[in-house]
Amino acid sequence: MKPLIVANWKMNPVKAKEAEELFNSVKHGVKDIESAETVICPPFIYLPLLKGLTLGAQDSYWEEKGAYTGEVSIAMLKEMGCKYVIIGHSERRKYFNETDEMVNRKVKTTLEAELIPIICIGETGEEREMDKTESVLEKEIKQGLDGVDVSKIIIAYEPIWAIGTGNPCDIEEARRMKEIIQKMVSKNIRILYGGSAKANNAEGYLKQAGFDGLLVGGASLDPKEFIKIVNSN
Ligand code: PGA
Repeated sequence: MKPLIVANWKMNPVKAKEAEELFNSVKHGVKDIESAETVICPPFIYLPLLKGLTLGAQDSYWEEKGAYTGEVSIAMLKEMGCKYVIIGHSERRKYFNETDEMVNRKVKTTLEAELIPIICIGETGEEREMDKTESVLEKEIKQGLDGVDVSKIIIAYEPIWAIGTGNPCDIEEARRMKEIIQKMVSKNIRILYGGSAKANNAEGYLKQAGFDGLLVGGASLDPKEFIKIVNSN
């Protein structure tokens, strides 16, 4: 399978016109790249404006419709053409108090709708220092994936201390973590790396560490840098 290079735009850019320009630059730059699959996860409101690359959402709610002010359902995302949904990103866990139980419900409804969930797991710097990395990942996997057919999911290993810090995880350490996660899930599933992924380290994660793709935040807002990442395999 081709590596999956997923752009997580987070809450950017502020203007729709900028979103379209960024999207079109990426679309133009990756159109002849056959070695990877490119996925763009913009803020919800830009989804209907962007056409011509695979789309994903940054979150979803587990109910299909109803009185849930502010939420967006998986049925709506499907209607907008999304194929992937990022679930349980550390920023959602931190700022919006998302729990593993909520992640679990979101993963299940995403799979029922036949979209592909990308579940983010990862430890904080403090947890790593206290030697709790494996127990944190184990809990996130066990509770987040309880009762889930894991053959249809993607996991993103995103050490929280590496996200948006310019301090990416060492390639060899990332390789070791991938193996650990693979064992915990006990199936051969796709695992992405995320956390300060850039053009100058992408190849290391894909080739040396053996990841099946990347989840790219900051660098996905710079079309030149992002196209280089897509092209690095
Ligand atoms: P970053 O973010 O590439 O800016 O570190 C990655 C992510 O949060 O998915």
